[in-house]
Amino acid sequence: MRMFRPEVFKAPRDFERPDYFERLSDDSSLKVALEIGAGVGLHALTFAAQNPEVHLFAIERTAEKYQKFEQSHTIQPLVNLTSIHADAIPWVIHAVPPRSLAQVFILYPNPEPKNAAQRWFNMPFMQFLLSRMQTGATLTLASNIEAYLDEAEEQLNTVWYLPYERTQVTTARRTHFEIKYMARGEPCGQLLVTKPENYQTPFDAWTM
Ligand SMILES: C[S@@+](CC[C@H](N)C(=O)[O-])C[C@H]1O[C@@H](n2cnc3c(N)ncnc32)[C@H](O)[C@@H]1O
Repeated sequence: MRMFRPEVFKAPRDFERPDYFERLSDDSSLKVALEIGAGVGLHALTFAAQNPEVHLFAIERTAEKYQKFEQSHTIQPLVNLTSIHADAIPWVIHAVPPRSLAQVFILYPNPEPKNAAQRWFNMPFMQFLLSRMQTGATLTLASNIEAYLDEAEEQLNTVWYLPYERTQVTTARRTHFEIKYMARGEPCGQLLVTKPENYQTPFDAWTM
């Protein structure tokens, strides 16, 4: 795996550093979650409503989807949810300090059939994302494409050396994509990855 180079990424347009992370070091009861590719925000709004003790930063890159997400967030103004219109990679680099995330969600990512290097667990960015997770934090990766999860599993075993559990999604209806696939009877699966104690990355002390 090529070494990730966070220093080459400029901050997203109109970037504002969230001050929430500064409060984390003073208050160990605060928990932060991150959702990458939140779509129109169904999971983000539901998760934030059901987990008032967790602050969720939910990022969506596509303008049209983000606008729908923001509209729903305005109607349901949850104070523990920050919706962000940006590319998740530079946003995470510029906003998130090391060891600050308790949970990460990547739900039904684009399969990138022609560009394997753009699939999340194949990207050097994973080194950086893992450095932003606390010990014991979890990352949930869900997909309706078995081969996507097979490849991610292979990467977990041979590149990232992380423990995980692979399960079928049975009752959940967390996102619009999940609802669509389940309605069609397509099997959906997920990997629940845990960051173990003493796990090291080259970015454990790296801050922007
Ligand atoms: C297939 S959709 C799934 C959306 C939602 N998670 C769901 O399940 O309904 C994947 C989403 O990820 C977003 N996305 C892809 N790469 C991204 C990135 N680097 N940063 C933020 N969002 C991204 C896309 O814009 C798209 O909306």
